[in-house]
Amino acid sequence: MTFISAKSNQGFLIVMGWLGGFGTCLMFLQYMSRNCSSHPFIPYVAQDINPSDKISSNSDAAPTTPPAAQPEKPILLLWFLPENYKWDFSDCKTIYNIDGCHLTQDRSLYNQADAVLIFHKAISWDLSNLPPSPRPPFQKWIWFHVESPTNTKRIPGLENLFNLTLSYRRNADISVRNLLTVSKTPNKFELPKKDKLVCWFVSNTNPSTGTGTRMKYYEELSKHIKVNIYGNMAGSRLKDEEYYPTMASCKFYLSFENSIHKDYITEKFNGPLSVGTVPVVLGASRENYEQFAPGDSFIHVNDFPDASALAQHLLQLDKDDEAYRRYFDWRKHVSATPHLIMWNQEFITYICHACEYIGIHRAYKQAHNIYDWYFS
Ligand SMILES: *[C@@H]1O[C@H](CO)[C@@H](O)[C@H](O)[C@H]1NC(C)=O
Repeated sequence: MTFISAKSNQGFLIVMGWLGGFGTCLMFLQYMSRNCSSHPFIPYVAQDINPSDKISSNSDAAPTTPPAAQPEKPILLLWFLPENYKWDFSDCKTIYNIDGCHLTQDRSLYNQADAVLIFHKAISWDLSNLPPSPRPPFQKWIWFHVESPTNTKRIPGLENLFNLTLSYRRNADISVRNLLTVSKTPNKFELPKKDKLVCWFVSNTNPSTGTGTRMKYYEELSKHIKVNIYGNMAGSRLKDEEYYPTMASCKFYLSFENSIHKDYITEKFNGPLSVGTVPVVLGASRENYEQFAPGDSFIHVNDFPDASALAQHLLQLDKDDEAYRRYFDWRKHVSATPHLIMWNQEFITYICHACEYIGIHRAYKQAHNIYDWYFS
Protein backbone atom coordinates (compact mmCIF):
# COMPACT_ATOMS: atom_id res chain seq x y z
CA MET A 1 0.00 0.00 0.00
CA THR A 2 1.37 3.36 -0.80
CA PHE A 3 -1.04 5.50 1.03
CA ILE A 4 -0.97 6.58 4.53
CA SER A 5 -4.08 6.78 6.47
CA ALA A 6 -4.95 8.50 9.61
CA LYS A 7 -8.51 7.99 10.58
CA SER A 8 -10.46 10.21 12.84
CA ASN A 9 -13.72 9.75 14.63
CA GLN A 10 -15.29 11.46 11.64
CA GLY A 11 -13.62 9.03 9.35
CA PHE A 12 -11.50 11.70 7.80
CA LEU A 13 -8.62 10.29 5.93
CA ILE A 14 -5.78 12.08 4.32
CA VAL A 15 -4.11 10.41 1.48
CA MET A 16 -0.59 11.44 0.92
CA GLY A 17 1.05 10.07 -2.09
CA TRP A 18 4.39 11.56 -1.38
CA LEU A 19 5.18 9.69 1.72
CA GLY A 20 3.56 6.69 0.19
CA GLY A 21 5.34 3.49 0.94
CA PHE A 22 7.23 4.70 3.92
CA GLY A 23 4.53 3.49 6.22
CA THR A 24 4.67 6.82 7.94
CA CYS A 25 1.70 7.70 9.95
CA LEU A 26 0.45 11.20 10.24
CA MET A 27 -1.49 12.68 12.97
CA PHE A 28 -2.56 16.21 12.93
CA LEU A 29 -4.38 18.33 15.37
CA GLN A 30 -7.89 17.65 16.41
CA TYR A 31 -8.92 16.03 13.20
CA MET A 32 -7.37 12.76 13.89
CA SER A 33 -6.59 10.16 16.37
CA ARG A 34 -3.79 7.75 15.87
CA ASN A 35 -4.99 4.70 14.09
CA CYS A 36 -2.58 3.79 11.41
CA SER A 37 -2.08 0.75 9.42
CA SER A 38 -0.07 0.33 6.31
CA HIS A 39 -2.37 -2.40 4.99
CA PRO A 40 -5.93 -1.48 5.81
CA PHE A 41 -7.39 -3.12 2.71
CA ILE A 42 -6.39 -6.30 0.98
CA PRO A 43 -7.99 -6.39 -2.42
CA TYR A 44 -6.43 -9.64 -3.48
CA VAL A 45 -4.14 -12.23 -2.11
CA ALA A 46 -0.67 -10.85 -1.77
CA GLN A 47 2.21 -13.15 -1.13
CA ASP A 48 5.03 -11.52 0.67
CA ILE A 49 7.02 -14.72 0.70
CA ASN A 50 9.45 -16.41 -1.59
CA PRO A 51 11.55 -13.38 -2.39
CA SER A 52 12.78 -13.15 -5.92
CA ASP A 53 16.38 -13.35 -7.03
CA LYS A 54 16.85 -9.65 -6.89
CA ILE A 55 15.82 -9.06 -3.34
CA SER A 56 18.59 -7.94 -1.12
CA SER A 57 18.49 -7.65 2.64
CA ASN A 58 16.85 -4.33 1.99
CA SER A 59 13.33 -5.72 2.21
CA ASP A 60 9.98 -4.05 2.86
CA ALA A 61 10.05 -4.97 6.49
CA ALA A 62 13.20 -3.16 7.48
CA PRO A 63 13.72 -0.03 5.45
CA THR A 64 15.25 1.90 8.31
CA THR A 65 19.01 1.60 8.00
CA PRO A 66 20.42 2.53 4.64
CA PRO A 67 22.75 -0.11 3.27
CA ALA A 68 26.43 0.73 3.35
CA ALA A 69 27.03 0.30 -0.34
CA GLN A 70 24.67 2.16 -2.63
CA PRO A 71 22.57 -0.56 -4.24
CA GLU A 72 21.75 -0.30 -7.88
CA LYS A 73 18.49 1.45 -8.51
CA PRO A 74 15.74 -0.80 -9.83
CA ILE A 75 14.81 -0.28 -13.44
CA LEU A 76 11.25 0.79 -14.15
CA LEU A 77 10.36 0.34 -17.79
CA LEU A 78 7.51 2.48 -19.05
CA TRP A 79 6.07 0.21 -21.72
CA PHE A 80 3.69 2.77 -23.23
CA LEU A 81 3.92 6.51 -23.01
CA PRO A 82 0.48 7.58 -21.71
CA GLU A 83 -1.39 9.72 -24.21
CA ASN A 84 1.86 9.78 -26.19
CA TYR A 85 2.89 12.75 -24.15
CA LYS A 86 6.66 13.19 -24.12
CA TRP A 87 8.18 14.49 -20.95
CA ASP A 88 11.49 14.61 -19.22
CA PHE A 89 11.83 11.65 -16.84
CA SER A 90 14.13 13.67 -14.64
CA ASP A 91 10.98 15.62 -13.61
CA CYS A 92 10.43 12.93 -10.98
CA LYS A 93 13.57 14.11 -9.27
CA THR A 94 13.51 17.79 -10.02
CA ILE A 95 9.82 18.36 -9.29
CA TYR A 96 8.89 15.64 -6.83
CA ASN A 97 12.26 14.70 -5.40
CA ILE A 98 11.68 11.08 -6.33
CA ASP A 99 14.79 9.29 -7.43
CA GLY A 100 14.20 5.71 -6.33
CA CYS A 101 14.41 4.04 -9.70
CA HIS A 102 15.93 4.21 -13.11
CA LEU A 103 12.94 5.21 -15.22
CA THR A 104 13.26 4.36 -18.86
CA GLN A 105 11.33 3.82 -22.04
CA ASP A 106 14.10 1.79 -23.61
CA ARG A 107 12.59 -1.59 -24.42
CA SER A 108 16.01 -3.13 -24.96
CA LEU A 109 16.30 -3.09 -21.17
CA TYR A 110 13.26 -5.35 -20.86
CA ASN A 111 15.19 -8.38 -19.62
CA GLN A 112 16.82 -6.35 -16.87
CA ALA A 113 13.77 -4.34 -15.88
CA ASP A 114 12.65 -4.90 -12.31
CA ALA A 115 9.22 -3.59 -13.09
CA VAL A 116 7.24 -2.75 -16.19
CA LEU A 117 4.54 -0.13 -16.03
CA ILE A 118 1.74 -0.95 -18.44
CA PHE A 119 -0.85 1.68 -19.29
CA HIS A 120 -4.17 -0.11 -19.64
CA LYS A 121 -5.66 2.21 -22.23
CA ALA A 122 -2.85 1.45 -24.65
CA ILE A 123 -3.16 -2.35 -24.50
CA SER A 124 -4.59 -3.81 -27.68
CA TRP A 125 -7.65 -6.04 -27.51
CA ASP A 126 -5.63 -9.09 -28.65
CA LEU A 127 -2.83 -8.33 -26.15
CA SER A 128 -0.29 -8.41 -28.98
CA ASN A 129 1.44 -5.24 -27.82
CA LEU A 130 2.19 -6.49 -24.32
CA PRO A 131 5.82 -7.20 -23.38
CA PRO A 132 7.17 -10.49 -24.72
CA SER A 133 7.36 -13.89 -23.04
CA PRO A 134 9.18 -15.34 -21.26
CA ARG A 135 9.12 -12.77 -18.59
CA PRO A 136 12.14 -12.49 -16.29
CA PRO A 137 11.29 -14.22 -12.98
CA PHE A 138 12.14 -11.21 -10.82
CA GLN A 139 10.11 -8.78 -12.93
CA LYS A 140 6.88 -7.18 -11.78
CA TRP A 141 4.20 -5.90 -14.05
CA ILE A 142 2.22 -2.95 -12.87
CA TRP A 143 -1.34 -2.42 -14.08
CA PHE A 144 -1.59 1.32 -14.64
CA HIS A 145 -5.16 2.50 -14.85
CA VAL A 146 -6.82 5.62 -13.57
CA GLU A 147 -10.15 5.74 -15.42
CA SER A 148 -13.40 4.86 -13.71
CA PRO A 149 -14.92 1.39 -14.23
CA THR A 150 -17.64 2.92 -16.43
CA ASN A 151 -14.97 4.06 -18.84
CA THR A 152 -12.80 0.96 -18.75
CA LYS A 153 -12.46 -1.56 -21.54
CA ARG A 154 -12.50 -4.99 -19.98
CA ILE A 155 -9.82 -6.48 -22.21
CA PRO A 156 -9.90 -10.26 -21.75
CA GLY A 157 -6.79 -12.10 -20.60
CA LEU A 158 -5.36 -9.47 -18.28
CA GLU A 159 -6.90 -10.76 -15.07
CA ASN A 160 -3.89 -12.59 -13.69
CA LEU A 161 -0.92 -11.11 -15.46
CA PHE A 162 0.03 -8.39 -13.05
CA ASN A 163 1.85 -8.09 -9.76
CA LEU A 164 0.87 -4.61 -8.71
CA THR A 165 -1.95 -2.17 -9.35
CA LEU A 166 -1.67 1.56 -9.82
CA SER A 167 -5.02 3.26 -9.57
CA TYR A 168 -7.03 6.01 -7.89
CA ARG A 169 -8.54 3.35 -5.65
CA ARG A 170 -7.45 3.68 -2.06
CA ASN A 171 -6.68 0.01 -1.85
CA ALA A 172 -4.45 -0.17 -4.89
CA ASP A 173 -0.82 -1.09 -4.29
CA ILE A 174 0.17 2.25 -5.68
CA SER A 175 -2.67 4.56 -4.83
CA VAL A 176 -2.35 7.84 -6.64
CA ARG A 177 -4.94 10.01 -4.99
CA ASN A 178 -2.55 12.55 -3.61
CA LEU A 179 -5.00 15.10 -2.43
CA LEU A 180 -3.83 17.12 0.47
CA THR A 181 -0.46 17.95 1.82
CA VAL A 182 -0.36 18.05 5.53
CA SER A 183 2.22 20.21 7.11
CA LYS A 184 2.91 20.64 10.80
CA THR A 185 3.17 24.34 10.29
CA PRO A 186 0.27 25.14 7.97
CA ASN A 187 0.89 27.63 5.27
CA LYS A 188 -0.90 30.91 5.58
CA PHE A 189 -3.97 30.75 3.45
CA GLU A 190 -5.19 33.74 1.56
CA LEU A 191 -8.51 33.53 -0.19
CA PRO A 192 -8.01 34.33 -3.88
CA LYS A 193 -9.93 37.22 -5.43
CA LYS A 194 -13.30 36.10 -6.73
CA ASP A 195 -15.22 37.63 -9.59
CA LYS A 196 -17.46 34.70 -10.52
CA LEU A 197 -19.91 32.69 -8.49
CA VAL A 198 -20.18 29.23 -10.04
CA CYS A 199 -17.86 27.74 -12.66
CA TRP A 200 -17.63 24.49 -14.48
CA PHE A 201 -14.92 23.26 -16.86
CA VAL A 202 -16.30 20.49 -18.95
CA SER A 203 -15.44 18.91 -22.24
CA ASN A 204 -16.89 15.43 -22.20
CA THR A 205 -20.66 15.65 -22.42
CA ASN A 206 -21.16 12.38 -24.25
CA PRO A 207 -23.86 10.50 -22.29
CA SER A 208 -22.45 7.11 -23.30
CA THR A 209 -19.46 7.67 -21.05
CA GLY A 210 -21.76 7.84 -18.07
CA THR A 211 -21.80 11.61 -17.97
CA GLY A 212 -25.62 11.80 -18.26
CA THR A 213 -26.23 12.23 -14.53
CA ARG A 214 -24.06 15.30 -14.23
CA MET A 215 -25.54 16.88 -17.39
CA LYS A 216 -29.07 16.46 -16.04
CA TYR A 217 -28.05 17.99 -12.74
CA TYR A 218 -26.30 20.86 -14.43
CA GLU A 219 -29.31 21.60 -16.62
CA GLU A 220 -31.57 21.76 -13.59
CA LEU A 221 -29.08 23.84 -11.60
CA SER A 222 -28.53 26.35 -14.38
CA LYS A 223 -32.24 27.22 -14.30
CA HIS A 224 -31.69 28.70 -10.87
CA ILE A 225 -28.17 30.08 -10.91
CA LYS A 226 -25.69 31.28 -13.50
CA VAL A 227 -22.95 28.76 -14.25
CA ASN A 228 -19.84 30.00 -16.06
CA ILE A 229 -18.85 27.22 -18.38
CA TYR A 230 -15.44 26.68 -19.94
CA GLY A 231 -14.34 23.90 -22.23
CA ASN A 232 -15.35 22.34 -25.48
CA MET A 233 -19.01 22.44 -24.59
CA ALA A 234 -18.96 26.22 -24.37
CA GLY A 235 -16.48 26.64 -27.19
CA SER A 236 -14.11 28.41 -24.81
CA ARG A 237 -11.32 26.05 -23.95
CA LEU A 238 -8.95 27.34 -21.35
CA LYS A 239 -5.24 27.36 -22.02
CA ASP A 240 -3.29 25.14 -19.62
CA GLU A 241 -1.84 28.12 -17.82
CA GLU A 242 -5.28 29.68 -17.41
CA TYR A 243 -6.82 26.61 -15.85
CA TYR A 244 -6.01 27.03 -12.17
CA PRO A 245 -6.13 30.85 -12.06
CA THR A 246 -9.60 30.78 -13.63
CA MET A 247 -10.73 28.13 -11.20
CA ALA A 248 -9.43 30.23 -8.32
CA SER A 249 -11.46 33.24 -9.45
CA CYS A 250 -14.74 31.36 -8.88
CA LYS A 251 -16.38 31.00 -5.48
CA PHE A 252 -17.70 27.56 -6.35
CA TYR A 253 -16.62 24.94 -8.79
CA LEU A 254 -18.80 22.11 -10.04
CA SER A 255 -16.69 19.05 -9.30
CA PHE A 256 -19.00 16.72 -11.18
CA GLU A 257 -17.41 13.36 -11.92
CA ASN A 258 -18.28 11.74 -15.23
CA SER A 259 -19.35 8.56 -13.46
CA ILE A 260 -20.06 7.54 -9.92
CA HIS A 261 -17.78 5.00 -8.25
CA LYS A 262 -16.20 4.42 -4.89
CA ASP A 263 -12.99 6.45 -4.55
CA TYR A 264 -13.39 7.89 -8.03
CA ILE A 265 -12.60 11.42 -6.97
CA THR A 266 -10.40 13.14 -9.45
CA GLU A 267 -8.49 16.30 -10.05
CA LYS A 268 -11.93 17.95 -10.45
CA PHE A 269 -12.02 17.83 -6.67
CA ASN A 270 -8.46 18.37 -5.55
CA GLY A 271 -7.98 21.14 -8.13
CA PRO A 272 -10.49 23.54 -6.53
CA LEU A 273 -9.56 22.44 -3.02
CA SER A 274 -5.96 23.29 -3.73
CA VAL A 275 -6.52 26.65 -5.36
CA GLY A 276 -8.98 27.96 -2.78
CA THR A 277 -12.39 27.38 -4.37
CA VAL A 278 -15.25 25.46 -2.81
CA PRO A 279 -15.96 22.25 -4.73
CA VAL A 280 -19.61 21.35 -5.26
CA VAL A 281 -19.34 17.63 -5.72
CA LEU A 282 -21.41 15.09 -7.59
CA GLY A 283 -19.94 11.63 -7.52
CA ALA A 284 -19.27 9.15 -4.74
CA SER A 285 -21.05 9.48 -1.40
CA ARG A 286 -20.30 12.27 1.03
CA GLU A 287 -18.89 9.65 3.36
CA ASN A 288 -16.40 8.58 0.69
CA TYR A 289 -15.34 12.18 0.02
CA GLU A 290 -14.80 12.69 3.72
CA GLN A 291 -12.21 9.95 3.59
CA PHE A 292 -10.21 12.25 1.36
CA ALA A 293 -10.87 15.72 2.70
CA PRO A 294 -12.45 17.50 5.65
CA GLY A 295 -16.25 17.39 5.58
CA ASP A 296 -16.54 21.16 5.80
CA SER A 297 -14.30 21.83 2.82
CA PHE A 298 -16.88 21.02 0.14
CA ILE A 299 -20.58 20.96 -0.68
CA HIS A 300 -22.18 17.70 -1.80
CA VAL A 301 -25.19 17.82 -4.12
CA ASN A 302 -26.81 15.16 -1.92
CA ASP A 303 -26.83 17.64 0.94
CA PHE A 304 -29.83 19.22 -0.78
CA PRO A 305 -33.17 17.81 -1.86
CA ASP A 306 -32.76 19.19 -5.38
CA ALA A 307 -30.75 21.50 -7.62
CA SER A 308 -32.96 24.45 -6.84
CA ALA A 309 -32.27 24.15 -3.09
CA LEU A 310 -28.53 23.91 -3.82
CA ALA A 311 -28.75 27.04 -5.97
CA GLN A 312 -30.49 28.91 -3.13
CA HIS A 313 -27.70 27.89 -0.76
CA LEU A 314 -24.98 29.10 -3.14
CA LEU A 315 -26.79 32.40 -3.71
CA GLN A 316 -27.12 32.80 0.03
CA LEU A 317 -23.39 32.19 0.53
CA ASP A 318 -22.65 34.77 -2.15
CA LYS A 319 -24.23 37.38 0.12
CA ASP A 320 -22.69 36.10 3.33
CA ASP A 321 -18.89 36.36 3.26
CA GLU A 322 -18.48 35.06 6.74
CA ALA A 323 -20.41 31.89 6.04
CA TYR A 324 -18.49 31.44 2.79
CA ARG A 325 -15.17 31.78 4.56
CA ARG A 326 -16.09 29.00 6.94
CA TYR A 327 -15.54 26.61 4.04
CA PHE A 328 -11.85 27.39 4.42
CA ASP A 329 -11.56 26.97 8.18
CA TRP A 330 -9.94 23.57 7.68
CA ARG A 331 -6.96 25.33 6.17
CA LYS A 332 -5.86 26.31 9.64
CA HIS A 333 -4.87 22.70 10.16
CA VAL A 334 -4.24 21.34 6.73
CA SER A 335 -2.64 22.85 3.71
CA ALA A 336 -3.34 21.85 0.19
CA THR A 337 -1.24 22.45 -2.86
CA PRO A 338 -1.67 20.98 -6.29
CA HIS A 339 0.88 18.30 -6.91
CA LEU A 340 0.29 18.64 -10.55
CA ILE A 341 2.55 20.07 -13.13
CA MET A 342 -0.44 20.78 -15.29
CA TRP A 343 -3.98 19.70 -14.70
CA ASN A 344 -3.90 17.39 -17.72
CA GLN A 345 -0.56 15.77 -17.00
CA GLU A 346 -1.47 14.03 -13.82
CA PHE A 347 -0.03 10.80 -15.10
CA ILE A 348 3.48 12.15 -14.68
CA THR A 349 2.97 12.19 -10.95
CA TYR A 350 1.51 8.68 -11.16
CA ILE A 351 4.58 7.38 -12.91
CA CYS A 352 6.86 9.04 -10.39
CA HIS A 353 4.81 7.34 -7.66
CA ALA A 354 5.42 3.98 -9.28
CA CYS A 355 9.11 4.77 -9.40
CA GLU A 356 9.11 5.62 -5.72
CA TYR A 357 7.21 2.44 -4.91
CA ILE A 358 9.47 0.04 -6.71
CA GLY A 359 12.49 1.76 -5.25
CA ILE A 360 11.25 0.75 -1.81
CA HIS A 361 9.19 -2.42 -2.14
CA ARG A 362 10.90 -5.54 -3.32
CA ALA A 363 8.68 -8.33 -2.05
CA TYR A 364 7.18 -10.96 -4.31
CA LYS A 365 3.62 -10.19 -5.18
CA GLN A 366 0.82 -11.28 -7.45
CA ALA A 367 -2.34 -9.35 -8.24
CA HIS A 368 -5.12 -11.90 -8.62
CA ASN A 369 -8.25 -11.10 -10.56
CA ILE A 370 -7.68 -7.43 -11.05
CA TYR A 371 -11.08 -7.05 -12.67
CA ASP A 372 -12.91 -8.65 -9.74
CA TRP A 373 -11.23 -6.11 -7.57
CA TYR A 374 -11.53 -3.15 -9.90
CA PHE A 375 -15.14 -3.59 -10.94
CA SER A 376 -16.32 -4.44 -7.44
C1 LIG B 1 4.25 -11.59 -10.94
O1 LIG B 1 2.95 -12.07 -11.23
C2 LIG B 1 2.97 -13.18 -12.09
C3 LIG B 1 1.51 -13.49 -12.45
O2 LIG B 1 0.74 -13.72 -11.31
C4 LIG B 1 3.66 -14.34 -11.39
O3 LIG B 1 3.70 -15.46 -12.24
C5 LIG B 1 5.08 -13.91 -11.05
O4 LIG B 1 5.72 -14.92 -10.33
C6 LIG B 1 5.07 -12.63 -10.23
N1 LIG B 1 6.44 -12.18 -10.08
C7 LIG B 1 6.92 -11.44 -9.07
C8 LIG B 1 8.35 -11.10 -9.12
O5 LIG B 1 6.26 -11.02 -8.13
